[in-house]
Amino acid sequence: MTQTRRSIHLAERPKGKPTDANFRLEEHPLADPGDGEVAIRVIWLSLDPYMRGRMDAGPSYADPVPVDGVMTGQTVGEVIASNADGFAAGDIVTGATGWVSHAVMDAKELRKLDPSLAPVQSALGVLGMPGMTAWTGLTDIMEQREGETIAISAATGAVGSVAGQIAKARGCRVIGIAGGPEKCAFATDTLGFDACIDHHAMTDGKAMAEALAKAAPDGIDGYFENVGGKTLAGIIPNMAEGGRIAVCGMVAWYSGDNLSEGLPLPVLWRTILTRRLRVRGFIVMDHYDRFDAFVSDVAPLVRSGKLHYREDVTDGLENAPAAFMDMLTGGNFGKALVRVGPDA
Ligand SMILES: NC(=O)c1ccc[n+]([C@@H]2O[C@H](COP(=O)([O-])OP(=O)(O)OC[C@H]3O[C@@H](n4cnc5c(N)ncnc54)[C@H](OP(=O)(O)O)[C@@H]3O)[C@@H](O)[C@H]2O)c1
Repeated sequence: MTQTRRSIHLAERPKGKPTDANFRLEEHPLADPGDGEVAIRVIWLSLDPYMRGRMDAGPSYADPVPVDGVMTGQTVGEVIASNADGFAAGDIVTGATGWVSHAVMDAKELRKLDPSLAPVQSALGVLGMPGMTAWTGLTDIMEQREGETIAISAATGAVGSVAGQIAKARGCRVIGIAGGPEKCAFATDTLGFDACIDHHAMTDGKAMAEALAKAAPDGIDGYFENVGGKTLAGIIPNMAEGGRIAVCGMVAWYSGDNLSEGLPLPVLWRTILTRRLRVRGFIVMDHYDRFDAFVSDVAPLVRSGKLHYREDVTDGLENAPAAFMDMLTGGNFGKALVRVGPDA
């Protein structure tokens, strides 16, 4: 094909926080699609915290990106040439193309989107993996019940904002934890949470525990864990007896910093025992058999405008590394996306 394929590669593994030196932009001619394949022009790239884990070599639930390999990632794009039944130029699709401007993919690895149902990039956010993560964590992992007090960290982010709004729609009292007064005002005024604690204003886990004790005097029944760090240290002493924690992520610790902010293990373990807590980790990809149930529950809330979602858009594939590094330390306000090309 005549198109040039731009791609962002893992140039070297990060030591601690990622830096520009860990990424490299390359340009190559785009291959022609073979049998059963389609060529795609990428429109939207999703930036997600899990990508930090894929940059490391250690064992995890998924293989690491090899050094010099294309950074892994989910995109939405337009089919520009098709050699596959059921796909035609102009179709809008989503799939794991990686951080690229164009891709040739096996059509079996793609899902077609209906652009008349919702903005296509919502397939990377509220109606995609992050939304599914929020719904699964609350519904199947935490097993949240009406009337409970639920705390959610990274409360204005892609996962947290959806989790909190679903919990509100189900009659819970929701306490968000977010970074900065602007994000906290958004959590209460726009997302409808009952309270929000600014973790930047908390010196340590003790200060966080005191603020949470005021916001949840009867204790926290369910905690949707996204961050770890001093937030988790403040949550644990406030968990109500029989409370449940859905362990979704721990972004404060992904680059190996903030490690001293955790609770001592004996304190954590004793609290789990004496308060009869249930702590359960989950990886959303194990739960995709529930995707239709998620969509039928959440899509009506999105369509009716009851569920708000905010996007943080960076223009240009070449700016993806900077936006990604920014997201890992709270620079994003809403679902982190890169606009790689113009809308269809
Ligand atoms: N288990 C799964 O299958 C699964 C699937 C998807 C996502 N996740 C996890 O869910 C979490 C949220 O992901 P997301 O896509 O919705 O990202 P996000 O919340 O949109 O972005 C990450 C947010 O983390 C917060 N953060 C960063 N450093 C922090 C720190 N030191 N202390 C407290 N908060 C910090 C920042 O928000 P503030 O500015 O508000 O602090 C930042 O905006 C991540 O841990 C991610 O790995 C897990």
